[in-house]
Amino acid sequence: MDLPFLLVCILLEVLAVKCQNAAQGRIVNGYEPIPHSITYIVSIQTMDRQHICGGFLINKYWVVTAAHCNIGVNKMMIVAGDHSLSIYEGTEQEMLPQLLVPHPAYNSTTNNNDIMLIKLRAPIYLNSYVSIALLPRQDTSVQEGKMCRVSGWGYTNPEGGTVPSTLRTVKLPIVSTEKCNSSASFNGIITENMLCAGYSIGGKDACQGDSGGPLVCDGRVYGVVSWGKGCADAQFPGVYTAVSKFRRWIDNTIFSYYSRCKKN
Ligand SMILES: *[C@@H]1O[C@H](CO)[C@@H](O)[C@H](O)[C@H]1NC(C)=O
Ligand SMILES: *[C@@H]1O[C@H](CO)[C@@H](O)[C@H](O)[C@H]1NC(C)=O
Repeated sequence: MDLPFLLVCILLEVLAVKCQNAAQGRIVNGYEPIPHSITYIVSIQTMDRQHICGGFLINKYWVVTAAHCNIGVNKMMIVAGDHSLSIYEGTEQEMLPQLLVPHPAYNSTTNNNDIMLIKLRAPIYLNSYVSIALLPRQDTSVQEGKMCRVSGWGYTNPEGGTVPSTLRTVKLPIVSTEKCNSSASFNGIITENMLCAGYSIGGKDACQGDSGGPLVCDGRVYGVVSWGKGCADAQFPGVYTAVSKFRRWIDNTIFSYYSRCKKN
């Protein structure tokens, strides 16, 4: 989806539609939060420090992100406590993953079940810059129109250069599955494991590079940035993995990891 996504954004920009941040793959028309006010978010990077995805901590050892952010356990590092990716702030904690658990039913064609757990090799130290995010209970739904916050960093360009980038955030309303799945929008490709959010007039959205990041409603992460069509398009809201559909899977996966360790 990467190239078409970028091209649509560039086209929108050429057409002077509000998409000025999208070509750089930033949260579209959001703002820079007070540094270190969003403490549960992490940046997932390649070993040469290219930001590829967002994610969030659910405890000291485990991160949740999107399954499509899976670049391989030996190619990935996780940075918590960050704000500007290009400036060393002294608050960052860098961790290597020990294990990646993409959802076994993840389908890269349909984007269904786009969620992955990352077990860290060493625990993150929780402090005023780094915290854990709360998850909704299994099958809890979130009402249409509810305002939720999505946050993320810009994408590093494919050439390998790093763009100076600080965290961005934006508030968006939840769009009903009926509307999002209707013929006027995604026309039948939205599953019950997905959640849509965005303004019906467009203009604000998550964009490429925000993938894996958290959509927070009422203090809990209900969505993981998953996919979309263009950025901030009025017809197409952003599509998120519905975390509440995976609460049981998350708990069971973590529990079975530790019970397996005890037996060995
Ligand atoms: C993904 O979903 C498509 C459409 O339902 C299906 O045809 C395909 O077999 C699935 N792929 C995998 C790997 O399950
Ligand atoms: C979306 O629409 C398709 C086609 O009508 C349908 O099969 C699917 O179940 C719908 N998704 C949801 C979550 O209702």
